[in-house]
Amino acid sequence: PKRIAVLISGSGSNLQAIIDHQKAHADLYEIVLVISNRPNAYGLQRAQDANIPTLVVDHTEYDNRETFDQALQTAIDAQSADLVVLAGFMRILTPGFTKHYLGKMLNIHPSLLPKYTGLNTHQRALEAGDKKHGLSIHFVTPELDGGPVILQAEVDIETGETEQSLADKVHKQEHIAYPLVVQWFAEDKLFLKDNQAWLNQNCLHHPVLL
Ligand code: GAR
Repeated sequence: PKRIAVLISGSGSNLQAIIDHQKAHADLYEIVLVISNRPNAYGLQRAQDANIPTLVVDHTEYDNRETFDQALQTAIDAQSADLVVLAGFMRILTPGFTKHYLGKMLNIHPSLLPKYTGLNTHQRALEAGDKKHGLSIHFVTPELDGGPVILQAEVDIETGETEQSLADKVHKQEHIAYPLVVQWFAEDKLFLKDNQAWLNQNCLHHPVLL
């Protein structure tokens, strides 16, 4: 089975979805480590409940991004992880770190990229009057939220929609989408080549739509 490290900062509901999916696909992958940069992230509890080793790498204890990322890298590589899954990990990563895991690191972002990189994506989609919003799962490259997109799921923005109701809708889709993409990677169906995502030998000129 592929060895997966999951990086979180908060609730870890996407981590939970991947844990639950793993139970039915134990032959495909194993979550060998969960790292949080925040000591009180609820996702740490979820990992412990699933008997997954956890580690806190508190970014406030590091002088700069390089030393923080070096600590992450040392911990991940000590577990010989085949894949790094960013699941609500809210730190910007250094180019060196992203290059070290090029083709082996996935991120989930709560918008239809290339729209709304960065923070407050639900609020920004609402304020723009968008009719559709959603999520993207992409390979991580040095460019923030800029790597090749693998899969997107759309949700409708309805009248009376609030930031919370929209976030809830996106979360629901995330919990379906992320385990699926992790499974593709574990099955060796998904690659990064020439800075493009490939699935089942096809170059994804457009993301898969869930
Ligand atoms: C998810 O909605 C994810 O898309 C987002 O954080 C949330 C984490 O939820 N990620 C980012 O904003 C990355 N910049 P979770 O902790 O319950 O999985």
